[in-house]
Amino acid sequence: MQIAHTIAELRHLLRHSQHPVFVPTMGNLHDGHLGLIGQAKALGDVTVASIFVNRLQFLPHEDFDTYPRTWESDCAKLAAAGCDVLFAPNEKELYPEPQVYKVHPPAELADILEGHFRPGFFVGVSTVVMKLFACVFSEAQGRRAAVFGKKDYQQLMVIRNMVQQFALPIEIVAGETQRAPDGLALSSRNGYLSETERAEAVQLSLAIQQLARDAQKAGTGLAERLPDIEAHVTATLVRRGWTPDYLTVRRRSDLQPPQAGDAVVVLGAAKLGATRLIDNLEV
Ligand code: PAJ
Repeated sequence: MQIAHTIAELRHLLRHSQHPVFVPTMGNLHDGHLGLIGQAKALGDVTVASIFVNRLQFLPHEDFDTYPRTWESDCAKLAAAGCDVLFAPNEKELYPEPQVYKVHPPAELADILEGHFRPGFFVGVSTVVMKLFACVFSEAQGRRAAVFGKKDYQQLMVIRNMVQQFALPIEIVAGETQRAPDGLALSSRNGYLSETERAEAVQLSLAIQQLARDAQKAGTGLAERLPDIEAHVTATLVRRGWTPDYLTVRRRSDLQPPQAGDAVVVLGAAKLGATRLIDNLEV
């Protein structure tokens, strides 16, 4: 695996690439990330990963400073997974001056759910992904693709939308959520959990499954009954000591409240102690 710390090095390494496939990450890699690398390898001729903890997508009180940085083991895992090129810029390289040009995704999609509880999050994500795309794909000769996990469902939708609206010649491919044996979605933030919290953590995924079942049972009465159904499952998590931000059933196409018959996705975000976890399930 070749490593580029600067945009110029990256462009040099990729100057002959035909079908680069890109997997952006913030590092602290687990099998969820590595699954995306495996997917990327099957899609193109050069697999490119990035590791960059993007300050722009963290709120001032969030965990930017303490976000786990595990460079050595990340490199070993990427190399073992067959990644060809790793782009690991530092902040000065990617943001040599304050990034004042930003990508503002539409409020209907980006100010709800995660964007409601983390204002500015999707501006930060969209802006860095746009910039990373510009770095990774500028030299590509042919088909370009990038892989994003369904674990961050709304993020995947925002990026798909951005690529479509800006007519970027990049195919966005979705990767399935990888889970621990008990069903907890793998996440870099799982490492913050104490032993007891780790045992409890799967309850978010179980609550999402319960909500999916309750929504299916509601049938044609879905729209009318949904507030009660969501409140009931939310209360269950509260009783177990969680602080839920949202547990909700949404239409898959635009993440708005669904009507009966819509394809839906159940999304949840909740704090367990100091750790905020998110998960979702397509129904
Ligand atoms: P990060 O949280 O490191 O995630 C990088 C990629 O891995 C994202 O596409 C995410 O959806 C995917 N991923 C995380 N956990 C997963 C799991 N359990 N199963 C499958 N895929 C999983 O998401 C980000 O970084 C950043 O916002 C980024 C896109 C890099 C922009 O800074």
